Amino acid sequence: MSYYLVRGGQALRGEVPISGAKNSVLPILAATLLNGGRSLLHNCPDLRDVRSAIQILQHLGCKVSREGDTILVDSSVVDRWDVPHELMREMRSSVIFLGPILARCGRARLSLPGGCEIGQRPIDLHLSSLRKLGVSIREQGGDILCEARDLRGGDIILSFPSVGATENTILTATACPGVTRLINAAREPEIADLQAFLRKTGVLVQGGGESVITVSGESPRNDVEHTILPDRIETATYLCAAAACGGEVTVTGAEPEHVGTVLQCLTEAGCRVRCAGRTITLQAPRALGGMSPVRTMPYPGFPTDAQAPLMAAACTGQGTSLFIETIFENRFRHAAELARMGADIRVNGRTALVTGRPLHGARVRSTDLRGGAALVVAGLAAEGESIVEGITHIDRGYERLAEKLTALGADIRRVEA
Ligand code: UD1
Repeated sequence: MSYYLVRGGQALRGEVPISGAKNSVLPILAATLLNGGRSLLHNCPDLRDVRSAIQILQHLGCKVSREGDTILVDSSVVDRWDVPHELMREMRSSVIFLGPILARCGRARLSLPGGCEIGQRPIDLHLSSLRKLGVSIREQGGDILCEARDLRGGDIILSFPSVGATENTILTATACPGVTRLINAAREPEIADLQAFLRKTGVLVQGGGESVITVSGESPRNDVEHTILPDRIETATYLCAAAACGGEVTVTGAEPEHVGTVLQCLTEAGCRVRCAGRTITLQAPRALGGMSPVRTMPYPGFPTDAQAPLMAAACTGQGTSLFIETIFENRFRHAAELARMGADIRVNGRTALVTGRPLHGARVRSTDLRGGAALVVAGLAAEGESIVEGITHIDRGYERLAEKLTALGADIRRVEA
């Protein structure tokens, strides 16, 4: 099994380019099914999840090619409406294909994505919204079979602003006659990016970044060209690494506005942060201090995906910080692994109290994507050598991680075993 070998203790210095957002490119790749034409997408990160999404598109009949960070999808022919179990298992967010397959083919068959390391991740909100749009849904031997019998727009109220349910509802609504109004929609920047893409295809969709979104059912039909927005979680991860290790790092090609809450926490911990255009420069203090309680919330609140990397940084400092995870019920699994490096973390249900102290190298295992990134951050700041195992999780969301960190002066090597 491949692993990262990290020798900690080096301050990080220099510039690191931010890739396109994983959580934006995945729904947009799914949305390329809708226009029955060519979609040219720039700034696509080369990630395991992106490769899985491409496999799904190819399975459905699309022609997909990739050159550098540009992906061309031709969805003129779509002759299947199922996502095979292996591909659903490979990437749980493949449930995002449900809406576009339904809108394009009038029916869809997907296996249930099942539980995940970070919590149950049910899709009840996706399904109840789709039912309200006139989709009939039944379960059969672990598969869900959906049929767009009597599609119609209407008002849908989400009981929680789920990112995936918002995306699936918008995507299905593109095929619904009339107007769909989605109330209490998620406001994540990736949803605004999906809407920007859809507008280019001719879909009338309004309210990107707002909690009420309206979609007028129109068949999208334009060839489109779109650039994926920068990954705010990758941005946060490099800033947390710089804060943990000391030094001064500039992230380029980023969107400072999308990481406002993360920058606020890092500033409180003593970092000096300067934003200019699409760059953010973080100068770390001699030792990180404590922060006000970090409570994960739907956007524009503190992102649950940045909780683990920030916790890793907090472990290395001198202050005490409280983390409250409100989005996923099982998202502190990295805490036990960080403890192997000497971290002082007291987890109690959905809260974790972190008291910073020097960490030492250890053999640790990634429990999930962001938890894995947190272990790398801690390993970089720890004294001595760490082995971070289970890095297929990290591959799902970080492009050229070791390469980018090495360019900042870190001692990290990917070992293929
Ligand atoms: C997306 C992101 C993920 C991020 C999360 C929250 C992608 C590919 N993934 O995941 O990185 O951590 O948003 O910002 O974009 N829920 C239900 N029923 C549902 C749907 C969700 O109860 O039908 C619950 C979930 O269990 C969870 C919470 O709602 O507790 C948030 O989930 P959601 O916003 O849907 O996250 P994802 O779209 O899965």
